[in-house]
Amino acid sequence: MMTQKTILRALAGETLPTPPVWMMRQAGRYLPEYRATRAQAGDFLSLCYNPDLAAEVTLQPIRRYGFDAAILFADILLVPQALGADLWFVTGEGPRLSTITEQRDFDRLKGKHDIHETLNPIYETVRILSRDLPSDTTLIGFAGAPWTVATYMIAGRGTPDQGPAHALKDGNRALFEALLDRITEATIEYLDMQVQAGAEVVKIFDSWAGSLNSADFAKYAIAPTKRIISELRARHPDLPTIAFPRQANDGYIGFHAATGATCVAIDNSVSPEWAAQKVQVDGCVQGNLDPKHMVTGGAALREATQHIVRAFANGPHIFNLGHGITPDADPDNVHIMLEAIRG
Ligand code: CP3
Repeated sequence: MMTQKTILRALAGETLPTPPVWMMRQAGRYLPEYRATRAQAGDFLSLCYNPDLAAEVTLQPIRRYGFDAAILFADILLVPQALGADLWFVTGEGPRLSTITEQRDFDRLKGKHDIHETLNPIYETVRILSRDLPSDTTLIGFAGAPWTVATYMIAGRGTPDQGPAHALKDGNRALFEALLDRITEATIEYLDMQVQAGAEVVKIFDSWAGSLNSADFAKYAIAPTKRIISELRARHPDLPTIAFPRQANDGYIGFHAATGATCVAIDNSVSPEWAAQKVQVDGCVQGNLDPKHMVTGGAALREATQHIVRAFANGPHIFNLGHGITPDADPDNVHIMLEAIRG
């Protein structure tokens, strides 16, 4: 039977007259109702692990804007925490984790089947959402890609150039690869449970894929993503997947075929014309409005939005930003974007 949900239609390869739309970080600090619910939860991690409140913040942008998809409210760093890493967030700075630099740090990590103890509340959030979302809204689950998650586990924080992760990769490849394997295996179990709980699509965020050179890109961005997708497909044959190898540049070319991803999400460092010609020829693409337009707004936002819609109009496309909406964005600018897409 033909599905009615526009996101699922685009993922099935249909070229729609109006692209479906959602935004990375659509539940976030730019929304006053998010800030209020986060204050009620106490802090960001308490919000992630409170299924009722996490479902509430997931629903907030759906109520306000009527996006075509909702993305589970959680974080890619919950997997390291479930594997036994310490995790905390420093307000105004970002995440901090215990580091992995030598074998004994790795030996302390838990196994792939031990993660659910920590992650059970996330599956409950998914169950609440699959019950409470409007019938035409697609529910997207997600996880970080192993390389990106490893960069945080190794350094213990976000880094501008992923230096510590590159140093471990080049200095102790066996340990680096063992860590990548552990994250990959845990991610398969985590996403499987999200799908069993009701996620209809899963997205894999490789935010730091752009710092891998071509040989490393094949080994540490393509291969783990391919393994996650093929294992999930073995368990859920019809599951659509979105892969986001951010700032991959030429690495975007052929990424659908190399990984088996249904859709490739594109950041805003490449033009939509380039992406249409080089990537959309292979299947559905998602993207790629510069998030700064959500801060600055006006005619430039309207024009950039319509430019992207036109550039991708001849193939399957899900409209999105090229990266997450930022806390300083104006919530009214989202209406300008939606008006420019939907008319
Ligand atoms: O609305 C959504 O997009 C769903 C929820 C979601 C969050 N993080 C919530 C969040 C998703 C999909 C993520 C993914 C994520 N988390 C990524 C990959 C995508 C990307 O942004 O490149 C990464 C690298 C992380 C790790 C992370 N989480 C960092 C580096 C930070 C601090 C930076 C920041 O934006 O504050 C977070 C915190 C975070 N994750 C917030 C939210 C809403 C802000 C937390 C707050 O409320 O203070």
